[in-house]
Amino acid sequence: MKILVTGGTGYIGSHTAVSLIENGYGVVIVDNLSNSKESVVDKIREITGVKPVFYNADLLDKETLGAIVKREKPQSVIHFAGLKAVGESVAVPLKYYGNNVVGTINLLEAMAENGVGDFVFSSSATVYGKPASVPIREDFPLSATNPYGATKLMIEGILRDVHAADNTMNIAVLRYFNPVGAHKSGLIGENPNGIPNNLVPYMMQVAAEKLDFLRVFGDDYGTKDGTGVRDYIHVTDLAEGHVLALKKLEKKPGMVVYNLGTGIGYSVLEMIGTFSSVLGRDLPYKIVERRPGDIDECYADTALAEREIGFKAKKSLRDMFEDGWNFQLKN
Ligand code: NAD
Ligand code: UFG
Repeated sequence: MKILVTGGTGYIGSHTAVSLIENGYGVVIVDNLSNSKESVVDKIREITGVKPVFYNADLLDKETLGAIVKREKPQSVIHFAGLKAVGESVAVPLKYYGNNVVGTINLLEAMAENGVGDFVFSSSATVYGKPASVPIREDFPLSATNPYGATKLMIEGILRDVHAADNTMNIAVLRYFNPVGAHKSGLIGENPNGIPNNLVPYMMQVAAEKLDFLRVFGDDYGTKDGTGVRDYIHVTDLAEGHVLALKKLEKKPGMVVYNLGTGIGYSVLEMIGTFSSVLGRDLPYKIVERRPGDIDECYADTALAEREIGFKAKKSLRDMFEDGWNFQLKN
């Protein structure tokens, strides 16, 4: 069975391509390389022994996209391709609405024209806005606090409408919590351009002595130690979640929405403690002001995904840091 993976040379897409191949699926990647490198295709081959088909193409190029879907006739599509930097989305919102929303519409149209009916979408816990309580269930109220989040919310709405209009279409919306870590081979992982915004990539660069110290954004939140609490999930666990979601779609369930997280919240200070123990030395940090827009706590209620698709994250926080650090050392 052939799966079209948009954004498949990116961070989560490349790990999912590995899981798909290991589970016997054929993988066709479409990526415009705006935030990844074509060499990832060879790394996927090194890990799995199978080289995915690769198209360097932009989802905004409707004609090329249509021709790829027509030629490949995939059974399903997993849609990772998108822009994801929250700060940049505030500065250049039209770029985000254009790329993420229009790119998704083009993809859905190409699927409809070619009779492809199974769709998995990369959504985010950002659609819960500032949740009233934790753990967060899939039926909690949704809201957006920035243009990036608004694109995820809009696309989820578009998918609900598309499904209402054509209930032969099977859709899985996966809301990721905080993906971190890397494949244990150290061949693929997260390699952000410039100074990272997210906690774990920033910690990696401090440990590699490319940055002097970690800035901990506030210690006066209503959490166990005052620092922000999040649900960090190993990227290979997340990748497995996509295989389980595809298997669910094969049973023609209609439209489903699942949180993909561990259900455990760790504070920034706990993150520093675990990484320091993996490194065998203290990671330098300073407490600074809160970062605007941050929330106190965000972690998943994972019961629905466990019950309906058998998803349960297996890897520990220590695994996430060991594998992330291994990737950092090799790259
Ligand atoms: P990534 O940037 O590593 O991967 C996205 C890939 O999509 C990149 O390879 C990029 O080149 C490609 N792409 C972007 N626009 C494209 C277009 N118009 N046409 C073709 N290719 C295009 O990001 P990631 O972390 O792997 O995220 C994958 C998806 O998961 C994104 O939709 C993101 O919003 C979502 N997500 C990520 C996180 C996270 O923390 N990493 C959390 C929640 C949701
Ligand atoms: N943090 C620091 N210092 C840093 C970076 C982060 O203290 O240098 C703290 C933050 O204040 C927060 C926690 O570490 O408490 C995690 O921050 P991240 O930036 O790594 O992640 P967020 O939870 O803020 O946001 C991420 C993505 C969003 C996505 C969300 C939920 O950036 O796009 O996860 O999936 F919506």
